[in-house]
Amino acid sequence: MDYDELADLYARQYRDYKDDLEFYARLAEQAEGPVLELGAGQGRVALYLARRGVRVWALEPSAAMRSRGEEAGRDLPVRWLAADMRDFDLRQRFPLIIAPFNALMHLYTLADQNAALERVAAHLAAGGVFAFDLYNPLRIRADGALRLEGRYDGLEVYYHQEHHPATQRLLTHYLADEAVPGGALRRRRYTLDQRYFTRYEVERWLAAAGFEGRLAGGFYGEPFTPNSPWMVWTARRVS
Ligand SMILES: C[S@@+](CC[C@H](N)C(=O)[O-])C[C@H]1O[C@@H](n2cnc3c(N)ncnc32)[C@H](O)[C@@H]1O
Repeated sequence: MDYDELADLYARQYRDYKDDLEFYARLAEQAEGPVLELGAGQGRVALYLARRGVRVWALEPSAAMRSRGEEAGRDLPVRWLAADMRDFDLRQRFPLIIAPFNALMHLYTLADQNAALERVAAHLAAGGVFAFDLYNPLRIRADGALRLEGRYDGLEVYYHQEHHPATQRLLTHYLADEAVPGGALRRRRYTLDQRYFTRYEVERWLAAAGFEGRLAGGFYGEPFTPNSPWMVWTARRVS
């Protein structure tokens, strides 16, 4: 999915989202060497790590997302890469590869998922860790109702969701309203298209590529339950 159109909305929605930062920072501190982030967006995580002295390679296909990150992190040790996680070759191995905040929900087919994991395996150093977090699909409550998502500097954002269980697809439709000079209301519409993973689907996907995955229900090692907000995975190569 192309995030170019979503970049401005995304910047406003997630400016204050920090729940996952310490989790990825802890892993980065334990890793020796640079960290590779897949789907790095505007650098929400990459810049946080870089401010702590971690060298980060930030892979992001959307020019609008990437340019915001490049601008914000001009003096930081982040190397931005315009690439797709299904098809990249950096000729370098990393002790830690991360895909924070649902980035893997943009792998829509089994072929996409396998291609990305094959690329992860090819770029992970011996003993390295692949860590990512995904929405817990057991929490999806897509009843179609329109809800207020938030207010951001004069922008009022509503959303409704469409859940397609047969294809594990979740469509989030946003309506972003803003008063423009002259007194008119400008409404923009955006759709976020995500394909969710189930718990054992992730486990099987990882195992088939020689990884053992450990699942937590939050960023501090909480047990995974039906009510957990996240599936937080850390995976290592075992074969
Ligand atoms: C939900 S955002 C997460 C951004 C960032 N990781 C964060 O935590 O703020 C998902 C990102 O994945 C990127 N993305 C989508 N498809 C991708 C692909 N095939 N390869 C790499 N990145 C992709 C999007 O452009 C978007 O920036």
